[in-house]
Amino acid sequence: MGLIRTELETERLHLRLFTYDDLQVMFDLNSDPEVIKYAEPKPLKDLLEAKKVLEEGPLADYRKYGYGRFAVELKQTGKVIGFCGIKYLPEIDLPEVGYRYLRKYWGRGIGTEAARACVEFARDDLNVQKLVALIIPENIASIRVAEKLGMKKGPMIQIFDVNALQYEMML
Ligand SMILES: CC(C)(COP(=O)(O)OP(=O)(O)OC[C@H]1O[C@@H](n2cnc3c(N)ncnc32)[C@H](O)[C@@H]1OP(=O)(O)O)[C@@H](O)C(=O)NCCC(=O)NCCS
Repeated sequence: MGLIRTELETERLHLRLFTYDDLQVMFDLNSDPEVIKYAEPKPLKDLLEAKKVLEEGPLADYRKYGYGRFAVELKQTGKVIGFCGIKYLPEIDLPEVGYRYLRKYWGRGIGTEAARACVEFARDDLNVQKLVALIIPENIASIRVAEKLGMKKGPMIQIFDVNALQYEMML
């Protein structure tokens, strides 16, 4: 395994590790019911809860595995607009590509652009052979992103108390 990058760059985006400066956007990404419709059971109530999600999610993953979801900044403004990245899922012993953006940035190709860079990162930096995306079957936008990455529909699995389609690809 080579060096695991802590930043990635695409045409419009800068992907970097999350820090404690990202509490507000972490809250925003976990409190809009439309954004979390196919992900989290309930919206966060305050920044203290956002801190817990940040610490138990990306920050814990960086420490344990050396990588985790990236914060995605729009280069044009320097603002964080969502997250994208590879998360190791011990439940299925596989790395997953995942993504989530603030609503106003949907439908501009950003989801696909960032995810493509993360697939390359998984292959080049992490030596991942099999990559999955776990998606609730109703989440058409997410399924489209997975398809555009070249992933194929695999089995339906039960995980985190929901039934999800496992999209998968060999790298
Ligand atoms: C899923 C998500 C990341 C997609 O990001 P995005 O930047 O809007 O996606 P893109 O613009 O790259 O679009 C990818 C494809 O999906 C299509 N698409 C986007 N939104 C769609 C929608 N609501 N319904 C149907 N297709 C949709 C696009 O048209 C595009 O396909 P095309 O190139 O064939 O036209 C974004 O909608 C999101 O953050 N959703 C909430 C969080 C979430 O559900 N994350 C995934 C959990 S598994």
